[in-house]
Amino acid sequence: MIYLDHAATSWPKPPEVLAAMHDFLERAGGNPGRSGHKLSIEAARVIYDARDALADLFGIQDPARVIFTLNATHALNLAIQGILQPGHRVITGGMEHNAVMRPLRALEQRGLLLEVVPAEADGSLSPQKFAAALQTPARLVILNHASNVCGTIAPVAEIARLAHAAGAWVLVDAAQTAGSVPIHLPTLGVDMLAFTGHKGLQGPPGTGGLVLADSFDPADLSPLVRGGTGSRSEFETQPEDLPDRYESGTPNGVGIAGLKAGIDWIQTRGLDALREQEHALALTLRQGLIGLPQVKVYGPADLTASAAIVSFTVEGKQVSEIGRRLDNEFDILCRVGLHCAPAAHRSLGTFPQGTVRLAVGPTTTPQDIMRTLSAIEWIVKT
Ligand SMILES: Cc1ncc(COP(=O)(O)O)c(C=O)c1O
Repeated sequence: MIYLDHAATSWPKPPEVLAAMHDFLERAGGNPGRSGHKLSIEAARVIYDARDALADLFGIQDPARVIFTLNATHALNLAIQGILQPGHRVITGGMEHNAVMRPLRALEQRGLLLEVVPAEADGSLSPQKFAAALQTPARLVILNHASNVCGTIAPVAEIARLAHAAGAWVLVDAAQTAGSVPIHLPTLGVDMLAFTGHKGLQGPPGTGGLVLADSFDPADLSPLVRGGTGSRSEFETQPEDLPDRYESGTPNGVGIAGLKAGIDWIQTRGLDALREQEHALALTLRQGLIGLPQVKVYGPADLTASAAIVSFTVEGKQVSEIGRRLDNEFDILCRVGLHCAPAAHRSLGTFPQGTVRLAVGPTTTPQDIMRTLSAIEWIVKT
């Protein structure tokens, strides 16, 4: 089987991830921060180590500013619903996932002022267009770090500078880049970053988080969920301390243990080395597809501005047929359609049919790419 659906979720997970999850349940299965006994302390230690590893990965000083959530969607909802109120103005780009657009559209019905800056035909965002939109004050700018449809990486640092100069906060959706593209919050100038654990970070589903920059004041962000944290139990009001202010209920300790093992696995191999390897394979894939008749490839021509995602359509063929034939005839797994991002497909001109998306991961080999290109060549011909 050739798995080219790493943008949906990475697979197979490193064996170390499975081992860490097994170990957590067997050896550290207490409720962290609650009971104070050995198993509870051990569970809290595992979770703290993961927080620390993530703070290190994203370049922030204080690990308590890594807030664990269920996934990137949950983290984005925490940020969006925690910072925006009716009457506030928010600016986003034309390549957003529904994890951003749906909460924004729901708030828009309650009086949020939403401006979507159109994306270019290759999925890129123009800082000049954001500068124009920022002429009118906004509370928040939301950017998709890399498109989950065609991989285009946004000029986050440049737009963040403009946003800050205009007095807006910056939230970045790093669902497609955390663990695949180096991210340093202070360099990007981002205030809040939503990540998922089950894609590039090689962790299990049910993990993700919101990272708050050291300079961001949590007083500006209300919690999404309130409840038991194990701390300040004498009060019926939510504690102000981080991360407890945003983490209520028993955390997914077993998932977070797996996530930590995924981060270690990446760090051992080197994020830059993995990115280079995946990038080279995506480039071969893209160039091979461009050479095929009737095939149209989307996204930036310069793959240095892209995650390892390649999207294409074939003239005269439905994307669903191509996906089915790749799966049934060649055992090649990919994702076709709208990828939960109708706005992005509208920007690329591929709405409503969508595209065939091939997403490379750390276990993809050059042979996988060659076999995939031959399979697509065959499907185009027959
Ligand atoms: C750009 C983007 N944002 C958000 C999400 C949602 O991520 P999660 O599945 O962790 O909620 C995805 C997942 O496909 C994504 O690609």
